[in-house]
Amino acid sequence: MKKVIAANWKNNCSKDFINKYFSFFNANIKINQKSKKEIIFFPPDLYLDLVSQSIKDLSGINYGCQNLNINEDNTTLTGGSTSAMLEDMNCDYVIIGHSETRENEFNKSLKSKILLCKKMNIIFCVGENSLERQNNQTLKKIFSQLDELIESYFDNMSIIIAYEPVWAIGSGETPTLSNISQTHESIKKYIIQKLPSIKENDIIVLYGGSVTEKNASSILKTDFVDGVLVGGASLMAEEFTKICNIEF
Ligand code: 13P
Repeated sequence: MKKVIAANWKNNCSKDFINKYFSFFNANIKINQKSKKEIIFFPPDLYLDLVSQSIKDLSGINYGCQNLNINEDNTTLTGGSTSAMLEDMNCDYVIIGHSETRENEFNKSLKSKILLCKKMNIIFCVGENSLERQNNQTLKKIFSQLDELIESYFDNMSIIIAYEPVWAIGSGETPTLSNISQTHESIKKYIIQKLPSIKENDIIVLYGGSVTEKNASSILKTDFVDGVLVGGASLMAEEFTKICNIEF
């Protein structure tokens, strides 16, 4: 199965940053038709167009948006980016339910967002916070978040989960490799149990939270890990390119 290596740039970007970033990345990335990997960039919405123009070869390198906005009652929403607009920008992917945006979202709005994504593939984020971790509530929390996705499942929807423990994001801490492996396995098993038509190979589970050039190789080679979602380290062209060039 191919590995997914995704860069979540969050709210960091400028035109100058993109120009410098891709002049390094495009010159040093090793990817071809046979590579068993897919690289995905998630820039801020304002820069989607420039990123799409800057990506050298679209084969195996894609881009998407970090969220989408909805207004449940169909009123207008100043400053919002709708799924139709993001699909018009040719986004291949959308991140839904990142812990940095979840606070303001209700279960109902996450489900509505999922149902709006007819052309974009969803990367659905789950993960426990430090209190839930201390109280051994990790899987309980993750399963309740997975239910949001499962309840909105529609035919042919690709299932891509990002397991991002909230306490690991930006902290320099990560779960052990065996914890990551067990959690990913549990995520896959839970989805299959709830949606028996889905096969294990159809479920992609990425790990996110303090992934760096130093730990990426071992995380990517861990059982049940299908890729990584990188935050801070993806902002450094050299470091992210090294992560993308890891051989499997
Ligand atoms: P860091 O890699 O900076 O911990 O961020 C992870 C993340 O939130 C990716 O979505």
